[in-house]
Amino acid sequence: MEDLRQFKADLVVTAGDMVNGFSSSRACWDMARSLGLPMLKGNHEGYLCKLTADRQAPEWTSELYSPSRENLKQFSIEEMARMAQLPSCLEFKAGNGFCLTHASLVSERFNSKGQITLSDYESHFSQSNAACIVRGHDHRFVDHPGLPKQVFSIGSVGHARDGLQKAQYAFFDLLPDQTWQMSVRSIDYPHELALEQMLSSGLLERGGVISQLIYYEVKHQHPLLFRFLDFYKTWPAHGEQEIRKAFYQFMGRELPDLKPV
Ligand SMILES: [Fe+2]
Repeated sequence: MEDLRQFKADLVVTAGDMVNGFSSSRACWDMARSLGLPMLKGNHEGYLCKLTADRQAPEWTSELYSPSRENLKQFSIEEMARMAQLPSCLEFKAGNGFCLTHASLVSERFNSKGQITLSDYESHFSQSNAACIVRGHDHRFVDHPGLPKQVFSIGSVGHARDGLQKAQYAFFDLLPDQTWQMSVRSIDYPHELALEQMLSSGLLERGGVISQLIYYEVKHQHPLLFRFLDFYKTWPAHGEQEIRKAFYQFMGRELPDLKPV
């Protein structure tokens, strides 16, 4: 926010996942609320809302959602009701329409993996009439060319997944021809402090393998989380003991010199 203050932005919007399994999630939520920023519901806010609705549903009791269960303890019933009201999409009239969504217009978890094909576009982004669609979720910047509309993926304020230990956000300027130009801010942030908070808060133990994957991903700038989830899909059995076994095998292969935290 300090970096942003030097510019005169017409509007600042957060693209979701203010609450994302880190120990600072509550502080991020409070800051965005105190500034009155329009907020989208990301998949992580969605997890908390679904957990609130049915904490015992089998899909939510897995260790995969331990960070969300930990985050949920930080919010009251009233706050969760407010979180549930967050929109999944915001549309603005400027420049023949500007649409902001978290992952896609039909899925809170669509991951572009750096590329949006025409087929992806038809399934996930053709539902809006806006000339420009902006999405978050992937933690990296990508300008997706060759689609019927302008589509941009923006980065994340911390926990980048493009190999940079930077906090990133994007500006969108409307050009005279009514197209949008994205420019990227990529700035240093105290990632060591975020890691220290994860350790000192005990989240690393309580959040299980997903918190540990996030910790090492940020610490080493080594993409782990989605690769582990893909690896775990191929694991012959699932369950609490199995996810641990899969995690240790995966980490031994990815970071063989890893020292236990
Ligand atoms: Fe997300």
